[in-house]
Amino acid sequence: MTTPAFEGRTALVTGAASGIGLAVARRLAEDGAAVVVADYDEDGAQLAAGELETAGARAEPVTVDVTDPSSVAEAVRFTVDTYGSLDLAVNNAGISGPSLPTGEYDIAAWNRVIDTDLTGVFHGLRYELPVMAEGGGGAIVNMSSILGTHGFSGQAAYCAAKHGVIGLTKTAALEYAPRGIRVNAVGPGFIDTPLLRETDNPMRERLIALHPQGRLGTAEEVAELTAFLLSDAASFVQGSYHLVDGAYSAQ
Ligand SMILES: NC(=O)c1ccc[n+]([C@@H]2O[C@H](COP(=O)([O-])OP(=O)(O)OC[C@H]3O[C@@H](n4cnc5c(N)ncnc54)[C@H](O)[C@@H]3O)[C@@H](O)[C@H]2O)c1
Repeated sequence: MTTPAFEGRTALVTGAASGIGLAVARRLAEDGAAVVVADYDEDGAQLAAGELETAGARAEPVTVDVTDPSSVAEAVRFTVDTYGSLDLAVNNAGISGPSLPTGEYDIAAWNRVIDTDLTGVFHGLRYELPVMAEGGGGAIVNMSSILGTHGFSGQAAYCAAKHGVIGLTKTAALEYAPRGIRVNAVGPGFIDTPLLRETDNPMRERLIALHPQGRLGTAEEVAELTAFLLSDAASFVQGSYHLVDGAYSAQ
């Protein structure tokens, strides 16, 4: 029998109460990781951690608001205090914004999306990197999007944030590669998660049609790529952006 890829390693996953983050937490736990399920949805984080524990994994919920640096610092500290190390991190928590042309974009919504989707990822890196460096290395995945390289009408804040995540990823990777930390970004196409649940049917059909595979992706498909990037099998994959998008961006 082969040893599970993440046996003996500790993972912190933000936004792990739902959608892609939950699928990533499940995937890492299945492969032996102890997982800290971090989310500002306290009940959701507890439910998710409970589910992982019932399945035989080690998991703890933690309430975090990624827009608040002290909250993220506390979640990282909690991980190390609970499991003794931080080896893997997935900066995944994110929100979408209203759909409005840039010339009419709501200022408060802009700030909310940038604070969560871009600054939230920075906060993760800011507190994860020193702990991993001190521990001798690690691997981080930042959740970007196909909108990290493509524009999308009505989504100025989300597109700006997701483009920014790729720049952050490359910079952190350059800085920390010599210290044994790999940092990569994932770019999912449109994925069938609660984030898209508010989308009305005609819009959903339009989104499906943008993917040559003729469907939305699943959270599990994103989790699979994320797990690969975090694993030792990806030991020379560093500072890059990886698509899981049904050929959306091949067009
Ligand atoms: N669903 C898609 O089509 C899609 C496509 C590309 C990228 N993404 C990205 O994937 C990530 C996960 O999205 P999802 O589709 O799973 O969404 P989701 O809404 O199902 O899950 C997001 C989770 O993040 C949590 N969260 C939101 N703001 C937070 C905050 N400030 N602090 C802590 N937790 C917070 C939510 O409570 C929720 O549990 C996001 O970064 C999103 O931008 C999603």
